[in-house]
Amino acid sequence: MHKIPSVPVVITEIIEESPSLRTFVFSRRFPAEPGQFCMVWVPGTDEIPMAFSAQNAITVQKVGEATEALFALSPGGRDRYQRTARKRIYPPSGRTLAVAGGVGAAPPLRLLATSGAADDFILGARTADELLFPPGELSGCTNLQCATDDGTSGHHGFVTDLLRAADPSSYDTICVCGPEVMMNAVLSILCEAGCPEKGQFSLHRYMKCGVGICGSCCIDPTGLRVCRDGPVFTGDVIIDSEFGSYARDASGRRKSV
Ligand SMILES: Cc1cc2nc3c(=O)[nH]c(=O)nc-3n(C[C@H](O)[C@H](O)[C@H](O)COP(=O)(O)OP(=O)(O)OC[C@H]3O[C@@H](n4cnc5c(N)ncnc54)[C@H](O)[C@@H]3O)c2cc1C
Ligand code: FES
Repeated sequence: MHKIPSVPVVITEIIEESPSLRTFVFSRRFPAEPGQFCMVWVPGTDEIPMAFSAQNAITVQKVGEATEALFALSPGGRDRYQRTARKRIYPPSGRTLAVAGGVGAAPPLRLLATSGAADDFILGARTADELLFPPGELSGCTNLQCATDDGTSGHHGFVTDLLRAADPSSYDTICVCGPEVMMNAVLSILCEAGCPEKGQFSLHRYMKCGVGICGSCCIDPTGLRVCRDGPVFTGDVIIDSEFGSYARDASGRRKSV
């Protein structure tokens, strides 16, 4: 594993993507690849995993203490640190489709699209205002199709409707990120199409150590750790696991996804 030591970064710009989602741009670029995450230490609060949405940016949804502390920052803050490691990331190969759903989904797949690795991109949200990033940015580097639950932009319905219509078996790689219930529906479609191994799923699990020691991000029953062995797993690896059913909270108790 190629580890990058903790380094301080200066925030040069903060972009408000939506009321609960901001992109933090750093002064420093990292050799981040699509799907790669870093541990962001917010002194005085916590250290949390965040995917790179660009080589010099993370895009953060405000959900709790640490993300609220990040939202309180202004450009110019110097005392934020990151440690990043090269983990199992999206390995686009051949004809590649990206499927992203929900507000927290787009960051890692945005990096995939902007690096030119996604031939086609299906982006979903509840409503048009929640479709992330300027529409022109993604459509300039991939063939973008949108779906909204309320029909305010693109297809009226779910990303899975567009996936079925796209014939998943015609792709070599399908990179997926979003709420687990959505990713599980994608995995079912890939199983029906006989190609679960083509799916590359980025899992979100509660993380503490971030280096494979504490066990808080273990996946039953294999014991694979999202921080050490992921965060991206192929569909055939997670098919008979806790994926789609439950995850663990900070205290280790199971909660349904
Ligand atoms: C590999 C990876 C990449 C991630 N990338 C991003 C990203 O690009 N942008 C982003 O906004 N978020 C991302 N997350 C989720 C992010 O790490 C959590 O939202 C964050 O840790 C919450 O910290 P908090 O202190 O603000 O909230 P807390 O007070 O810790 O929790 C608030 C709520 O969020 C839930 N939560 C906490 N951590 C996670 C988690 N890891 N997965 C799912 N739910 C969680 C809690 O159960 C609780 O309901 C990623 C998570 C992982 C594992
Ligand atoms: S966060 Fe500790 S093992 Fe993954």
